[in-house]
Amino acid sequence: MSKPKVFVTRHIPEAGLKMLRQKFNVEVRTAKAPISRAELIKKIKGKDALLCLLTDQIDGEVLDAADPQLKIVANFAVGFDNIDLEAAKERGILVTNTPNASTEAVAEHTLALLFAAARRIIEGDRFMRAGKYKYWEPELLQGSAIKGKTLGIIGLGRIGFAVAERATDEMGMKCLYTDLHRNPTFEKLYHGKRATLETLLKKSDFITLHVPLLPSTRHLISAKELNMMKKTAYLINTSRGPVVNEKALVTALKNHKIAGAALDVYEFEPKMAPGLKTVDHVTLTPHIASSTHQARDGMSMMAAKNIIAALSGRKPPTLADPELWSKRRK
Ligand code: GLV
Repeated sequence: MSKPKVFVTRHIPEAGLKMLRQKFNVEVRTAKAPISRAELIKKIKGKDALLCLLTDQIDGEVLDAADPQLKIVANFAVGFDNIDLEAAKERGILVTNTPNASTEAVAEHTLALLFAAARRIIEGDRFMRAGKYKYWEPELLQGSAIKGKTLGIIGLGRIGFAVAERATDEMGMKCLYTDLHRNPTFEKLYHGKRATLETLLKKSDFITLHVPLLPSTRHLISAKELNMMKKTAYLINTSRGPVVNEKALVTALKNHKIAGAALDVYEFEPKMAPGLKTVDHVTLTPHIASSTHQARDGMSMMAAKNIIAALSGRKPPTLADPELWSKRRK
């Protein structure tokens, strides 16, 4: 019997590919740029599993191009807003993501952005490279203290919690959070307080976003919300770009409605909203929050484990939605 076929839309760290190659016939696309829709529709035919990235849009049309043997779409990301979950469910195809593997990396990058914004690290770097450092100045590039300040966490899931733990325990910050559910453990251990979005926006000195991209979270932060923030506050986004109305953010930054922002994700990624790159008090990174060797190896192995389970008739460890299992193709 021939081995099941797995298609991987772009090269990912070897750790998971090695696991897959031991069991399956694995085709890894070698091009550096994301796969086009036309190529994806061609390549998915005859495959038993698809390992895709957050840059691949997987919808009903793509899934219909697959043959009935397609069992699983394994996303190499914790977020899976690039996949039409309902379309997969209707067709009995499993969808998995890679939670846990990147939690620490994303939390650390969030805090790196917080420090960079508060202490104007990027502006300082640009200042040095431009040869502008002529003499020490008492008021040069003054930033904000971090200890004792309030961190507003929007979305206290795995990543939000990891950020909160460090911010309270190690950095001496106070925490407010919004979430669909109360988290008594967090409130007890870290003295965090659940607040309404409005209270959090008004009271926080730093606000960090950790919600998935859903219809209800698209433009969660827009002009109205930015106007509620303190003039001295900073916004950090390592979740998904469209959670923030980027045009409104540029306006708020240019008008000094807030002190600054630090972004790893963009509304129309990889593009930036007009004017964003000319703002000094914004720190920008290219969607690399989970990009440590450890996290990306972990994500690669997690995606492989999900595919191995699905193609062996077992429940994949990290299904994007538990309901997918009962609806799967047999
Ligand atoms: C990265 O953005 C991820 O969702 O893992």
